[in-house]
Amino acid sequence: VRLTGTKSGCGGGGCGACTVMVSRYQPATKTFTHYSANACLLPLCQLHGAAVTTVEGIGSTKTTIHPVQERIAKAHGSQCGFCTPGMVMSMYALLRNKPQPTMEDVTQALAGNLCRCTGYRPIVDGCRTFCQEANCCQANGDANCCRNGDGNPEKPEEEKPRLFEKEEFLPLDPTQELIFPPELILMAETANPETLTFYGERTTWVSPTSLEELVQLKAKHPKAPLVMGNTNIGPDIKFKGVLHPLIISPSRVKELFEVSETPQGVWVGAGCSLSEVRSLLEKLVPQFPEEKTELLRSLNQQLGNLGNQQIRNVASLGGNIVSAYPNSDLNPVLAAGNCKVSVISSGGRREVPLNQDFFMGFGKTILNPEEIVVSVFIPFTRKGEFVRAFRQAPRKEASFATVSTGMRVFFSEGSRVVQDVSLYYGGMGPTTVSAAKTCTAIVAKPWDDETLSKAYDIILDELVLPPSAPGGKVEFRRSLTLSLLFKFHLEVLQKLRDTNVIKDEVPEKIWPLPREIQPSLQEFQAVSKDQSAQDPVGRPIMHRSAVGHATGEAVYCDDIPKTDGELFLGLVTSSRAHAKITAVDVSQALQLPGVVDVVTAHDIPGMKFRPMSGQEEELMAETEVSCIGQIICAVVADSRAHAKRGVAAVKISYEDLPDPVFTIEEAIEKSSYYEPRRSIERGNVTEAFEKVDQIYEGEMRMGGQEHFYMETQSMLVVPVGEEMEFDVYVSTQSPSAIQEAVAETLGISSNRVTCHVKRIGGAFGGKVTKTSHLVSITSVAALKTNRAVRCVLERGDDMLITGGRHPVMARYKVGFMNDGRIVAADMEYFTNAGNTIDESVLVVEKMLVHMDNVYNIPNLRGRGAACRTNLPSNTAFRGFGVPQGLLMVENMVNDVAAVLGRPADEIREINMYRGPSVTHYKLEFSPENFLRCWDECKLKCDYSARRKAVDQFNQQSRWKKRGMSIIPIKYGVAFAESFLNQAAALVHIYKDGSVLVTHGGTEMGQGIHTKMQQVASRELHIPTWKIYISETSTNTVPNTCPSAASFGTDANGMAVKNACEILYQRLEPVRKKNPNGTWESWNNHEEVIIVFLCVLRGEDLYMDWEKMEGRPGAYFTFGVSCSEVELNCLTGDYRVRPKKSSLIVDFVMHFSFETLFCRQIEGAFMQGLGLYTLEELKFSPSGLLYTRGPSQYKIPAVCDVPLRFNVYLLPDSDNPHAIYSSKGIGEPVVFLGSSVFFAIKDAVAAARSDSGLVGPFTFSSPATPERACLACNSQFTQKIPTSKPGSFKPWALNI
Ligand SMILES: Cc1cc2nc3c(=O)[nH]c(=O)nc-3n(C[C@H](O)[C@H](O)[C@H](O)COP(=O)(O)OP(=O)(O)OC[C@H]3O[C@@H](n4cnc5c(N)ncnc54)[C@H](O)[C@@H]3O)c2cc1C
Ligand code: FES
Ligand code: FES
Repeated sequence: VRLTGTKSGCGGGGCGACTVMVSRYQPATKTFTHYSANACLLPLCQLHGAAVTTVEGIGSTKTTIHPVQERIAKAHGSQCGFCTPGMVMSMYALLRNKPQPTMEDVTQALAGNLCRCTGYRPIVDGCRTFCQEANCCQANGDANCCRNGDGNPEKPEEEKPRLFEKEEFLPLDPTQELIFPPELILMAETANPETLTFYGERTTWVSPTSLEELVQLKAKHPKAPLVMGNTNIGPDIKFKGVLHPLIISPSRVKELFEVSETPQGVWVGAGCSLSEVRSLLEKLVPQFPEEKTELLRSLNQQLGNLGNQQIRNVASLGGNIVSAYPNSDLNPVLAAGNCKVSVISSGGRREVPLNQDFFMGFGKTILNPEEIVVSVFIPFTRKGEFVRAFRQAPRKEASFATVSTGMRVFFSEGSRVVQDVSLYYGGMGPTTVSAAKTCTAIVAKPWDDETLSKAYDIILDELVLPPSAPGGKVEFRRSLTLSLLFKFHLEVLQKLRDTNVIKDEVPEKIWPLPREIQPSLQEFQAVSKDQSAQDPVGRPIMHRSAVGHATGEAVYCDDIPKTDGELFLGLVTSSRAHAKITAVDVSQALQLPGVVDVVTAHDIPGMKFRPMSGQEEELMAETEVSCIGQIICAVVADSRAHAKRGVAAVKISYEDLPDPVFTIEEAIEKSSYYEPRRSIERGNVTEAFEKVDQIYEGEMRMGGQEHFYMETQSMLVVPVGEEMEFDVYVSTQSPSAIQEAVAETLGISSNRVTCHVKRIGGAFGGKVTKTSHLVSITSVAALKTNRAVRCVLERGDDMLITGGRHPVMARYKVGFMNDGRIVAADMEYFTNAGNTIDESVLVVEKMLVHMDNVYNIPNLRGRGAACRTNLPSNTAFRGFGVPQGLLMVENMVNDVAAVLGRPADEIREINMYRGPSVTHYKLEFSPENFLRCWDECKLKCDYSARRKAVDQFNQQSRWKKRGMSIIPIKYGVAFAESFLNQAAALVHIYKDGSVLVTHGGTEMGQGIHTKMQQVASRELHIPTWKIYISETSTNTVPNTCPSAASFGTDANGMAVKNACEILYQRLEPVRKKNPNGTWESWNNHEEVIIVFLCVLRGEDLYMDWEKMEGRPGAYFTFGVSCSEVELNCLTGDYRVRPKKSSLIVDFVMHFSFETLFCRQIEGAFMQGLGLYTLEELKFSPSGLLYTRGPSQYKIPAVCDVPLRFNVYLLPDSDNPHAIYSSKGIGEPVVFLGSSVFFAIKDAVAAARSDSGLVGPFTFSSPATPERACLACNSQFTQKIPTSKPGSFKPWALNI
């Protein structure tokens, strides 16, 4: 059907890129239901009779666009645009059900949609305009807002720059929505329901219509699964290769959807979706006295946090129970609440209690294979009965729980003596477990501190996890069993007090963390009044493809239509970390249907490796593998499915080699490094240490990061058919590198390879070197088969194969005076580079160059090494080592403050560069703009007053602590090698006056094409609509540099400007001849040269490591960020507080690209927030990456957005080194996300001081709930015995 708008980002329900709306008609009630769902998990057969609306269905540029599409686009809610169709459809489905939603509805609707570029703020801003409460000025697009008190009241309304004009928005008119297809209504009303059977290549799907038939089918085929929402079965089939020859779909059996009430409770059909159960509970709760609905309310609360909207809309209640997940959210509550299920089989009906006997093990229940759960009984609670459900998860929403729990206690009337109690936990074993012994010890005892304190000891003995338990986090999970029980204890005491049973003061009420996202602020100056109305520079204009993103019309690599005979390539990767390959057997794979060929290193006619940093990296391993995930060969087949099956059938035999190296410590021990190792020094560090008042030595680790670009690595190589010519369509930041790689691999010259890049669905540094490997292999397949070959990695393979940001361990020694002056510092950095060198040495160099940050430390030494390990090779990632290196420096400064017992911001200020300054690599610069950023940020945040308020709060609160931090950055923009900073642009002016601009930058969400259009518009004095940018290609602009190092706009912008200036000058004679002519008339003239290619040489940048001096950046971008968080010390959960989390970034206002920059700043900050507080890569002891999808690896979601997020761009600064005085921000701002890390650390320090622990402490990044909770060192974490390292094999490596 060629509807390519719906995207695939994970295939497992975890990213929302594939969101569509499903509509159904109920003939009995003559009503329609509309709900969002993940297309990737929707079995087509399940959709019989349903209408599916994709993003193309709601609006397009060819007809009209829908208000949702318009508002997300105009609010700058799309950057790379890959997530946008999914966002649009989630919001659209919400509006179909609720045309005036609340902000809570909006955030719930978007909770399951991931975006890696925007940081969600602009998307929320766009969607907020549909909300009823969106009547304040900020929500309507004003930069200054009445609600946050930051507005500038003196400025007349018309002068305030607006991000978007709400008045321009199309109104939402529900009467204009698509109607449900009448033929489907007719079908539903007239059709005689009969069994449907669909036959597939390997699976048969049967959908019976009656319970009787269902029972017979299940009796005959007990092994066939009952597929309802397919959210458990689907991922198993897709990712674990499970094959079900027969699938039974009970979705048309009405008994499974019936709801009935009894005096004791409610029977709910097992087929009801979790969203339907939620709606039912919401309807029931107000109908009964509060005491009867304790269980209903707890279930409802837990359902609100389970999965995401799209999952809840399809996942069934029965499916959730029977799936028996170890960390199920519902099962602990259902079990604690004495629920039961009614099941049926050919043997008859029975009722089975949902208790500890029901859950037998991982995914196993007591039910017989042929039994079908028909309904679930949820009892009403009695007077004196309290039920609570809690969960703690790696991310606040859209995340399986680390530990979930359901707790119930029953008191006889007017008494605090416990009659009955149930405590069930998820996440504490292979299935839901009961703390039965603890319950027995509580029964007949008064509910008080004494009873509970005994209960903690018993539960600790009862719910034991071995130190190597699957899932890891053993101490944290164990401590959660206690702290969640403590939370229950407090809530029950409060209830007993509210019902006048006891008079005790409840120690502290633990309110939930705040969650409503408030309007944000982006402060920038309006363009000058003198600027021509047509000149777009400095005006908030939309990303030029925004509407295309929102309508799904924007074309990405995998949207390119299939060519005749096209093949798909799947990669066979190593399953061993360090081994000899003894045999590669492809015979079985070649027998499979659709498999055409297998490509190995022997098929490469040219270079079998890629040269990187003076070393050779094999494209496909021939004799030896050095990490799990290394590519060995590739299978080409006529479809993705066939290629996948072919890959699974290739048999590789290995002989393990001894002693693989995984961790940084192992690499140090074995001196396993890539050379050269680098060092830099100014002053005399050794001597200085002898003269300082105090010395402190510390160590810190920081985890890596997965790029998680929403569009996975994608490419299509097409043999043109003559003279060895190839067209390569690829998602890459570096078309020229790809061209070179393909040419060298195939042994042909570069002029036979044309690389085309239309747009990229996010890259962040990950689509340069790794993409060239992949495309080289794909080109070999295209050459060998002489057919077009496409390769699009599945998310799991992408994460496994392509590496990411380098994990770092740093050791430091710092010498300082008692007045706070840091006199000497010695830092040693070790990065985990993985099995090949890639750009790892360059990453280390960049780290060392930036290690002074904004501090004038007179004696400073840095040493850095890239460790060679047997993990997948790491590569460039936004910031290129700076986010890691600077975290260590700032942590060191924090430690100095902690030793001296002074506020960290004071120590920062004491040590900052001031006046004319020189870096540790002898570069002169002025820190004036930085100091302005610092002062402005403190002022805007009301820093001193807030600090006082935070300290006051902490004195009064034991279990919740607040923390604050203010963090600076000085970032050198551009590549340290001059040749990488050059750019070129080709500008065509056609006779009709239309202009085609081509330049070397690739569009990956940063809006480079929009910015280039602005440049050309200004220089040619024509409106932007006359200018078009089609793609980046090597046959128009050759030998380009990668779009990276935050320098793409600077370099290419200058080239476009130059080319346009020259063309405009060339038109001068014609313009003079005909001064009243139009642009079109000037160009429709034979004398005019209408094409110009301008190549711009980059600045002379270098770094001389021998002399330890250089100019490795063209200029500095400065920035400061201040964050405040509230931390729940019992669970480690935190929230960035709604008190102005602020960022000041040094930019020039008038002549820049504010809107695109503001939004990029927000996105980069969120990526930093993810890096420092959330994202964790986990490797098995044998070196296998566990975290291979959004279910295991959590990037920030909409729930992580700072509740208030203000961005200010520093006015009146100048930058002669870049286009219109703009500054690169894509990379620097990532580090500013660390202000959240340091704010969490500050809150943890406050908690520790309650336990008498003061002074510096080790706290690694990311500051996950686990780390924060354990570091708080509460009475609960203190109880958990720690296992001696080395006495067990941990579940995951500490790489
Ligand atoms: C991205 C994602 C996030 C998730 N997050 C969470 C979370 O946070 N918390 C949580 O608890 N869960 C979570 N889940 C799990 C989800 O809730 C369950 O997969 C879902 O409830 C299972 O229901 P289903 O209808 O999709 O089951 P299906 O996949 O259709 O079936 C699952 C199993 O149940 C059996 N089954 C289904 N119905 C019946 C019946 N009536 N009688 C007997 N057997 C039956 C099937 O035979 C099959 O074995 C998540 C899942 C995904 C994909
Ligand atoms: S692709 Fe369907 S949710 Fe990610
Ligand atoms: S715009 Fe959301 S992933 Fe790129």
